[in-house]
Amino acid sequence: MDLNLKVNQKGHMDIGGADTVELAEEYGTPLYVIDEDRIRDNYKRVYNAFTKYYSDFKILYACKANTNLSVMRILEEEGSCVDAVSPGEVYTSLKTGFSPDRILFTGNNVTNEELKYVDGTGVRINLDSISQLKRLSKVVDPEGYKISFRVNPMVGAGHHEHCITGGEMSKFGIKESEAVEVYQMAKDMGFNPIGMHTHIGSGILDPEPFKLATTVLMDIAGKVAQGADIDFEFLDLGGGLGIPYEPEENLLDIDPFAEEITGIFKSKLSEYGMDGAKKPYMYIEPGRYLVGDAAILLSRVNTIKESYRKFIGVDSGFNTLLRPAMYGSYHHIVVANKAKDAKEINENTPGVEKIDVAGNVCESGDLFARDRILPKVEEGDLLAIMNAGAYSFSMASQYNSRPRPAEVLVSDGKSEIIRERETYEDLYNNQIVPKRLEK
Ligand code: LLP
Repeated sequence: MDLNLKVNQKGHMDIGGADTVELAEEYGTPLYVIDEDRIRDNYKRVYNAFTKYYSDFKILYACKANTNLSVMRILEEEGSCVDAVSPGEVYTSLKTGFSPDRILFTGNNVTNEELKYVDGTGVRINLDSISQLKRLSKVVDPEGYKISFRVNPMVGAGHHEHCITGGEMSKFGIKESEAVEVYQMAKDMGFNPIGMHTHIGSGILDPEPFKLATTVLMDIAGKVAQGADIDFEFLDLGGGLGIPYEPEENLLDIDPFAEEITGIFKSKLSEYGMDGAKKPYMYIEPGRYLVGDAAILLSRVNTIKESYRKFIGVDSGFNTLLRPAMYGSYHHIVVANKAKDAKEINENTPGVEKIDVAGNVCESGDLFARDRILPKVEEGDLLAIMNAGAYSFSMASQYNSRPRPAEVLVSDGKSEIIRERETYEDLYNNQIVPKRLEK
């Protein structure tokens, strides 16, 4: 991992030109801090890499990673499109200024009411099952209605088994062997199928599964194009591009990756005669890659406990950042007010300790780290939990009746609050106590 750690003259960790210690003092902790420029850079890096090799290309930001309105605004400004997986994500995308033609809805186990709502917004619907196809035909007039299908290419990968979305154990997509039949069925119903989609999993740093999935998807698309006489407007390869969380993990080198993927894409287009005047767009749907390394979670140490092990107790927990508890995910931790030597730290560095970093939720699984090497931590120190931009706030809850934290956006050394910290009152939003139970 390239820690990309910036340390200012005071020895404090810096993000987007702002001092983390000052941010924590000004806004309190726990606090998510999002670096605007990093999101913009990430977007441009992917966009430039792919368009260098294939110009009919779109990025659909998988907004489940982070639906903060300001994050969405930044990506809208950059020109991104959106992968939305629920009516709520469609609503949020529209609210943040994405026009319907820039949003693709890929729902899973959606109801007729949800299909109706999404249809009403004018957003394109990507279907996940034959059931959805049949039910959509009752909700809309199928004549000429543009749709696409998610296909399971029987290739899956991901940082955890919960995050693998291709292969025979996966609930997603239609079967490869049924693809031609399903597209034909859709046409027979009057629909106009113009796209094919896949997504094999999340948190993948190895290019091989992507290459394999692209090859398989293109073969399926080619067979469907020929077998059901479909003119594809787009072929969507999904997301899943990983970022390094652990020090020994390396970046996914985006330029050679883009060259390889577009290379397979183009050769398959020509193999199946899909490279005529109107070539299909290539879509990809990164979430984590665009926002994952653009935010940190600041959390204050309030307790040092030497029990059978040494615990550093902080003021947030898996209600704030679930990934370590849910997937056993590693998030690098920097003592933000003692960041000077954080880069070089290892077991043999004088003064370091091997400790557990524990959250404030009443469950034993509420740990941010086990046996982590950190400089000697004291009560009052500030920890920066790194790579907390994706699947972090968006998976936060109020478990243990803890209000969710505030979010701050930094750019050019300036900070702005973009989400207020919740209050205790917010814990009871929408609850109604029946009259007979009132005190
Ligand atoms: N497209 C579809 C249809 C997806 O389901 C997902 C993620 C993506 C794109 C974006 O994947 P990404 O590029 O962000 O890897 N909560 C887990 C990740 C779950 C991802 C679910 N689907 C985590 O914290 O690692």
